[in-house]
Amino acid sequence: MKKTFYVTTPIYYVNAKPHLGHAYTTVLADTMNRFHKILGEETFFLTGTDEHGDKIVQAAQKAEKTPQEYVDEISGLFKNLWPQLNIQFDKFIRTTDPDHKKCVQRILQLVYDKGDIYFGEYGGYYCFGCERFYTEKELVDGLCPDHKKPPTYLHEENYFFKMSKYQEWLIDYIKANPDFIQPQAYRNEVLAILKEDIGDLCISRPKKRLKWGIELPFDKNFVTYVWFDALINYISAIGWPDGEKFKKFWPAYHIIAKDILKPHAIFWPTMLKAAGIELYRGLRVHGYWKVDETKMSKSLGNVVDPLSMKDKYGVDGFRYFLMREMHLGHDGNFSEKNLIERFNSDLANDIGNLFNRTLSMISKYFGGILENKDLSFEPKDKDLIKLGEDSLKKYIESFKGFKTAEGLENLMVFVRSLNKYIDSSAPWTLYKEKKLERLSTVLWLVLMSLKKVAYALWPVIPESSEKMLASIGWENMPNTITLEDEISNWTPWDIKEKLPKGLNLFPRKEVFKEQDIKEEKKGKEKQDYIDFELFKKIDLRVGKIIEAKKHPNADKLLCTKVDLGEGKIRSIVAGIAEYYDPTELVGKNVVVVANLAPRKIRGVLSEGMMLAIHTKQGLKVLTAEDDIEQGSKIS
Ligand code: MSP
Repeated sequence: MKKTFYVTTPIYYVNAKPHLGHAYTTVLADTMNRFHKILGEETFFLTGTDEHGDKIVQAAQKAEKTPQEYVDEISGLFKNLWPQLNIQFDKFIRTTDPDHKKCVQRILQLVYDKGDIYFGEYGGYYCFGCERFYTEKELVDGLCPDHKKPPTYLHEENYFFKMSKYQEWLIDYIKANPDFIQPQAYRNEVLAILKEDIGDLCISRPKKRLKWGIELPFDKNFVTYVWFDALINYISAIGWPDGEKFKKFWPAYHIIAKDILKPHAIFWPTMLKAAGIELYRGLRVHGYWKVDETKMSKSLGNVVDPLSMKDKYGVDGFRYFLMREMHLGHDGNFSEKNLIERFNSDLANDIGNLFNRTLSMISKYFGGILENKDLSFEPKDKDLIKLGEDSLKKYIESFKGFKTAEGLENLMVFVRSLNKYIDSSAPWTLYKEKKLERLSTVLWLVLMSLKKVAYALWPVIPESSEKMLASIGWENMPNTITLEDEISNWTPWDIKEKLPKGLNLFPRKEVFKEQDIKEEKKGKEKQDYIDFELFKKIDLRVGKIIEAKKHPNADKLLCTKVDLGEGKIRSIVAGIAEYYDPTELVGKNVVVVANLAPRKIRGVLSEGMMLAIHTKQGLKVLTAEDDIEQGSKIS
């Protein structure tokens, strides 16, 4: 039987439109789901909306709608958004679904019959924003720590779940199962909460105060309180207790952010235990996205709309950034500037360029079809194979732990090594020297590596990955071979049709103009004047670039040789690799600061500095006309 994988997102409240935070959790769940698909597992992915409670009623009133009209509308926004981000859920649950309601009532009855739900009185500090009671200890200066508002003191009769009965058992369970709650910091946080008395959980609201909920099966004057309703979605959606899907897929991995750790790590396991249901497999907790280092909030007007990001940077550009930038368990910072930089460096330069140049060489040297499959590997090839296999293994390990940023970092190590491998194997020279067998080995090795890279990226950037695989003539998408088996599979495939001459998947993005303007302004404010005497000391000269190549240790640098007409050639390192192909530079007459003290830049000697202009498209070297003699002084 195939292994199974079941992943869930929180069900989102329908009192606000979907934003970056919701999009991140849901893209992460989709990525995990797709990743387990290509490990050859049978998967199930659940998301949905949480539609009961005070907050929703209030939001509906504000929108002048009935609660049902209102929840239908906002739930629809979530449901329709996900496919636009290429998120393929298997089921979208709503807590207003009749099947869900029945399931909640069944579990309530079961736990009630067991004697774990009792009727009691309760007086406490209630925050309507959080829809929960706070103990005095939890309040900060008498205010709700989240909403910074004074809570309302409520005294009422309600039903309670005997959560405290399971406290000791839960501590033992978490200690015995280190993988249950991860990352570690959150596991520790939960164990710390469990050191104090957790008390019992109030699970009802009197109908006279709140009607918009699920009626208790044993008392029609009450409805369930938000968590007892919401958490059960994870099993009602797959047909607990007898449904085929429940039998096949439960237990699940739950992905949440730190805001709802306590209900998931404490309420939910004790509820499951009381109902005699197997616990979930694992809780994976991520941090919060901030925007430009500030908390995202409606009042600050900095809420990021996922759709506008998708429109600007493409589904895959946006998905890649989310998965690459947020380290599981830590908060992440969202800024468009970072997104663009990441897009340009990883997708456009490293991956995009790698595909493009490989295809263009296969086309130029072999007419688009690599026929010779008789490969003989040199030590240098074997090193690349080893490095590739290692980085793919690390990629898989990280992804199994939901750590996408680490995984992608490891994959990029392989990608960058491939670019270096091409440079050092110099296919253009092999072609010139007619070493065609060696040339086809080199190109096959790169092509096979590209297949692995593209395949591994499918969970993160599915659409582009499929395009990449199609472009190299590998049509077996998505999973005729598992990703794990693919790692050590170094056999060429049949290329039936000519491969395309190139692939331009990720055209570079221009750096955000507003950001540029802001920075320019900042620069102006800081303007410092220098003395003319000081300026006179700068020796500016015209020099001709006679050689240029990539820096061996830095992606952004180029190493050039420049003739300043002084009888010796200077080595100058310039930070322009992102903007120029080295060959374009040769022959240009550029402006050089000639009396700058020589220094080593990332291991390469630099005897001067080339001047460049900041344009909207990036850096452009400052040039002098062709007929100007090398060494001419500029004043
Ligand atoms: N309805 C409850 C969850 C019930 S689950 C049984 C709820 N809904 S929510 O709409 O507030 O969603 C909270 C979740 O949205 C977080 O746990 C997280 O997944 C996501 N995020 C909301 N804001 C976020 C950020 N700023 N950053 C990252 N994720 C955030 O709580």
